[in-house]
Amino acid sequence: MDAFTYQANKLYVENIAVETLVERYGSPCYIYSKTALMQRFQAFDQAFGARPHLICYAVKANSNLALLNVLAQLGSGFDIVSLGELKRVLAAGGQANKTVFSGVGKRADEIRSALELGIKCFNVEVSAELDRINHIAGELGVIAPVSFRVNPDVDAKTHPYISTGLKENKFGIEIHQALLEYQRAAAMPNIKIVGIDCHIGSQLTDIAPFLAALEKLLALVEQLSAVGIDLEHIDLGGGLGICYNQEQAPEPAEYIQALLSRLANSNYTVLLEPGRAIVGNAGILVTRVEYLKPTEHKNFAIVDAAMNDLIRPSLYSAWQNIIPVDKTGAGDERVWDIVGPVCETGDFLGKNRTLALKPGDLLAICSAGAYGFSMSSQYNSRPRVAEIMVQDDKVQLIRARETIEQLWLGEQLMV
Ligand code: LLP
Repeated sequence: MDAFTYQANKLYVENIAVETLVERYGSPCYIYSKTALMQRFQAFDQAFGARPHLICYAVKANSNLALLNVLAQLGSGFDIVSLGELKRVLAAGGQANKTVFSGVGKRADEIRSALELGIKCFNVEVSAELDRINHIAGELGVIAPVSFRVNPDVDAKTHPYISTGLKENKFGIEIHQALLEYQRAAAMPNIKIVGIDCHIGSQLTDIAPFLAALEKLLALVEQLSAVGIDLEHIDLGGGLGICYNQEQAPEPAEYIQALLSRLANSNYTVLLEPGRAIVGNAGILVTRVEYLKPTEHKNFAIVDAAMNDLIRPSLYSAWQNIIPVDKTGAGDERVWDIVGPVCETGDFLGKNRTLALKPGDLLAICSAGAYGFSMSSQYNSRPRVAEIMVQDDKVQLIRARETIEQLWLGEQLMV
């Protein structure tokens, strides 16, 4: 099912007109389709068939509790990168023992809490992190489950800011160092080795780099086995892309089939950490045109959402489709730059878009479910927007629009 469709020229999310949601909750707002979210999770989950597996949804893509709760109810595990994300997972009904802890800079207090809460494993990215985990586990009298995130040095051929598996990136243990680290871990009293993982980048639209990374991991797994280190799971991270524009992103089933056929003669549990591919196309950002400003050189449509609400266009020059909420289109058809009110030249949501616009029109920025709200800020003292979830004709406000007073919550005058 396509969750965002036009009915009589009006944009709908499942069976609710976007216009009616904006009347009720205001603009700008993020709107998610629960059905689309569930279907995408199930596409990943079901593609594994009988193969032991765990989908660990990458919380950073969208960490709203309602969304995490939907996934937890479907049996999802989680990939987290901070104690805050772990606490969100638990608050949403997720389980620590289905949660993996990634990230290059885990603090001691985060490691301690994760151990106390019973994390499934740490994805260790730094040699010194292993010593820290061993030490803290010793203090707590527990055994810490670890996997090493190895950096396989493959080119994910994606935007340099979201490419993570090259040797010049800060992520993971260099693959040539990994055997040594595993041997160090094996000799530590408070460590249990459970797996291996990698994450080579985000928004990959080709399966080949995933398979190249898997090949390198499997070669290492063989070396490990030869020295008596056996693993329970292989975690291939996230990174599967979605269609923003004309990209031909592989379906989860195609991607998982390719992985499983390479893994056919092994029985490791397979973990994946998809974020964008689960939630990206399950959400839109709705914004209202405040002013039209045609000039000699450029036509600007100034809208009420900005880079603080959705930073991907500014930060990565990301292209996201922008469509009218009402297609009847009695507006001025031109090529517009869709820009926000923030005082930065880089504050745009889309450039050179042919649209028929008039002030007051609503626009939907598509594919905004992942790295949209979760990367939003209050820059320019703009309260963060509301988030709404729809299922069929049911609506739930899943995060209230912030109030002005919330902007300075916790701030104090110097006395
Ligand atoms: N696992 C790890 C260890 C990660 O670092 C990430 C994303 C994921 C999983 C999930 O990747 P996904 O399946 O969503 O591609 N803000 C950027 C994307 C940054 C991705 C960071 N790491 C964007 O808006 O494009």
